[in-house]
Amino acid sequence: VRPVHSAREAALQTLHQVEVAGAYAHVYLPRLLAASGLSRQERALATELAYGTLRRRATLDYRVAQVCHRPLAQLSPWIRNLLRLGAYELLFLNRTSPAATCHSLVQLAHRYGHAGSARLANAVLRRLSDPPKALDLPDPTVAPVDYLSIAYSLPRWLVERWLQRWPQEVEALCAAQNEPAPVTVRVNLLRTRPADLAMRWEAAGLRVTACQWAPEGLTVESRGPIQELPGYAEGLFWVQDEASLLVGRLAAPPRGALVVDLCSAPGAKATHLAELMGDRGAVIALDLHQPRLRLVASAASRLGLRSVIPVCADGRRVPDLLREPAAVVVVDAPCSGTGALRRRPDARWRKQPEQIAALAALQGELLQAAAQVVRPGGRLIYSTCSLEPEENEEVIRQFRQVRPDFVPDLPPLGPGLEGDEAEGWVRLWPHRHGTDGFFICRLRRR
Ligand SMILES: C[S@@+](CC[C@H](N)C(=O)[O-])C[C@H]1O[C@@H](n2cnc3c(N)ncnc32)[C@H](O)[C@@H]1O
Repeated sequence: VRPVHSAREAALQTLHQVEVAGAYAHVYLPRLLAASGLSRQERALATELAYGTLRRRATLDYRVAQVCHRPLAQLSPWIRNLLRLGAYELLFLNRTSPAATCHSLVQLAHRYGHAGSARLANAVLRRLSDPPKALDLPDPTVAPVDYLSIAYSLPRWLVERWLQRWPQEVEALCAAQNEPAPVTVRVNLLRTRPADLAMRWEAAGLRVTACQWAPEGLTVESRGPIQELPGYAEGLFWVQDEASLLVGRLAAPPRGALVVDLCSAPGAKATHLAELMGDRGAVIALDLHQPRLRLVASAASRLGLRSVIPVCADGRRVPDLLREPAAVVVVDAPCSGTGALRRRPDARWRKQPEQIAALAALQGELLQAAAQVVRPGGRLIYSTCSLEPEENEEVIRQFRQVRPDFVPDLPPLGPGLEGDEAEGWVRLWPHRHGTDGFFICRLRRR
């Protein structure tokens, strides 16, 4: 990796690392920027360029292929990504004159390729910056999967699934996966009140709105790093999507209870549960992965919670670990994450259809193990940020066939949020609720 001199170069290096080395953009880019010496403004631009290009990759490839005489797959990864980057800037950003964009990208093509690559980049970028033409997308009535996957830059297999299941809403769902996610936080009720934190942020010039369903939730319009929001170091809040907040709300653990969170890292729900209990009782926070479990410990420590007890273990072994049954058990299962694609620019390209069946099997095993440690009359909460029925409804149906002693137990949730009371579950959607896509089921042990 070479030193970076500009936002475009930082973005290009990130795209390259994601493609050839499987790097995670949200891990790689911040490290690169921290070591770069680029200004704050340039860093923000690099992030916009890298994330936007990754997110819109399918749309950009389609557009570039229309004006490039060589197949993209035959270009070097540097030049392929440089063309994507240029296409993103020219089609989606409009920040400088197209000529300036082309000029600076062609310079980069010289550095990361050879004279031939620079000529090719020059020709393609000039064609892309001709007075904007409509993208000339496939006809939605003739080829709906092509249309949706190209227009909204999503893997075809995912679009195919969604189209089959939700033909009326699929386009709105796809579009919502490209919308920027709001910054939502959970106010630490043990340290402050939502109205007080909101006032503090408003005084600092930030716009704040209360969440719709979770009284401890606030949405703040902030573009900077979370750590710079007033109150961060004091542990006054935790960043968490409103849908995820509803998991804790539905768990509603009584003060002083014994609660188990089977898959707890990085700790959003475990710390929420502890806060809801007034930090009385215990939240046994399991996770299989030790490095991730450290995040749970540091979350609890920043928020000033003593009742969270991190334990590194496979959730499927929980019956061997616990001596007494718990009042509330939460299984926030590892999942495909197809409800939360808007959160990570490259997430959509990392998923494979085969993963869904393997995850569903693991989810079923975790749920069955969890059931063994719920006390009679206690609650079992199952949640995922997946939209796929195999990981949600199907997991619950199969579970209830072997454990008919667990019955649906969904309370009313508030206006605009209708769950299925007969089944005990509720689903949130990015395009309907503005939250991440989430599935939450609450069962009670008879
Ligand atoms: C969706 S995340 C949990 C998010 C967490 N509940 C929160 O709110 O911050 C799923 C977690 O399950 C963990 N995991 C995967 N397999 C597991 C297993 N067999 N037992 C326990 N945890 C597991 C992963 O390490 C990951 O941290």
